[in-house]
Amino acid sequence: MKILVINGPNLNMLGIREPDHYGKETYDDLVAKIRAYCEKKGVEVELFQSNHEGALVDEIQGAYGRVEGIVINPGAYTHTSIAILDAVKAVGIPTVEVHISKVEEREDFRQISYVRLACVKTITGQGTNGYLEAIDFLTEGK
Ligand code: DQA
Repeated sequence: MKILVINGPNLNMLGIREPDHYGKETYDDLVAKIRAYCEKKGVEVELFQSNHEGALVDEIQGAYGRVEGIVINPGAYTHTSIAILDAVKAVGIPTVEVHISKVEEREDFRQISYVRLACVKTITGQGTNGYLEAIDFLTEGK
C-alpha cells in the first residue's frame, strides 16, 4: 500500500513556530518519524510540504491512480481552501485530515474545515502522533 502525506503552509517551521501549540519536533523529525513508522509497517510512503495552495492542489491531483491513501494537514488552508477540498473530492482517494493542535479548542476561525467535508476521518490534538494514527486508519481501518 502506498500513502502520501501532505503538509501545508508553515508546517516546515515545526519546532520553531509556537511550540506551545505544535511542540518541539522539527519538520525533519516528523518526516523521519513517519518514514520509520511506515518502514516498520511495510507501507510505502511519500511526503510533500508546500506553503503554496496551488502546489498542494497539484500534488493531490498527481496522486490520482498512484496512491491508495492521503494524510493531509493543510495548515491554515484548512480554514479557507475550497480548492483543496475540491481536489480531494476530485481524486476520490481516502483522505484523513490531521491537525497537530486541538483546533476545536482554539479561535473561532479555526472551527471551519473545508477539507473535512471530503475526508474519511479527522484527527486533532495528538501532536505528531496524529499522523501515525492516520496511517493506521488508512492501512487497517482503525
Ligand atoms: C494546524 C492548525 C491550523 O489552524 C494552523 O493554521 C496550522 C496547523 C495544526 O496542525 O494544528 O498551520 O493545521
